[in-house]
Amino acid sequence: METNQNLLEYRKVDIQYGDRKIIQDFSLQMKQGEILGIVGESGSGKSTVIRAAMGLLGDSGKVSGGEILYRGTDMTKVSGEQLRQLRGPELGMIFQNAGASLCPIRTIEEQLYEAVLQHEAVSKEEIRDRALKLFEQLRFTNGKQILKSYPFEFSGGMNQRVGIVLAMVLRPKLLLADEPTSALDVTVQAQVIKEMMKLRELYGTGIAIVTHNISVVNYMADYVAVMHQGKLVEYGTKEEVLNHPQEAYTKKLIGSVLRLKRR
Ligand SMILES: Nc1ncnc2c1ncn2[C@@H]1O[C@H](COP(=O)(O)OP(=O)(O)OP(=O)(O)O)[C@@H](O)[C@H]1O
Ligand SMILES: [Mg+2]
Repeated sequence: METNQNLLEYRKVDIQYGDRKIIQDFSLQMKQGEILGIVGESGSGKSTVIRAAMGLLGDSGKVSGGEILYRGTDMTKVSGEQLRQLRGPELGMIFQNAGASLCPIRTIEEQLYEAVLQHEAVSKEEIRDRALKLFEQLRFTNGKQILKSYPFEFSGGMNQRVGIVLAMVLRPKLLLADEPTSALDVTVQAQVIKEMMKLRELYGTGIAIVTHNISVVNYMADYVAVMHQGKLVEYGTKEEVLNHPQEAYTKKLIGSVLRLKRR
């Protein structure tokens, strides 16, 4: 019955903070298992569109027009309780500072139980097994030790990866990632990107990733959305957008990255 349903769909979405219109007429669709890269200059509205799907625009922000459908449910109309249920197991999120959202003085294990038990009635053993398996699949060598550790004992990059594992343990159907790797050094960035790809491979997770890094888009994405001043200026398959950019703005964006690379 739901086979052809979109995982996520923005339909003519307008968003404003206070009286200031930020996003205009934003429309796109994602299918299950699809990876969408969202790029655009700073302030173009990338975080805003991602946050709107999670109901996280804050007090001053609101979707003033259109619909954001997660598997057919309009996220702009759901109750707070419904939102809490959807966040985590359905809609996972990783922000730029995922590691910073960990509590520094509680063990990873405790935080893991809390995250899962909010949503699922499973035993701690089952959660532990699931996490250890995930750590193993993601090639962490010492999962048991990680569970017993405190975030303050880890580097920022390590915590970022653990934060990502916490989002992944719930096996979300859709992962919204807002610059998940920009705070990390290059080697760790590559690991995190691989871990996200693994999530799709293992659980068919769809991923929308905001990034300033065209190489990340090139590696991960099936589709690319380019934003400029609150509007979607280009949207198509990765090949279409990266190889044959149509908009002057997109050409500039891709061109500037390639120039940097050639140095
Ligand atoms: N909570 C807020 N209240 C008021 N204005 C906001 C708020 N959050 C974002 N804005 C404004 O909305 C616009 C879009 O911001 P947004 O954070 O979505 O851009 P972005 O594309 O994610 O930029 P960056 O690449 O720097 O993260 C900007 O003009 C920003 O100043
Ligand atoms: Mg942003």
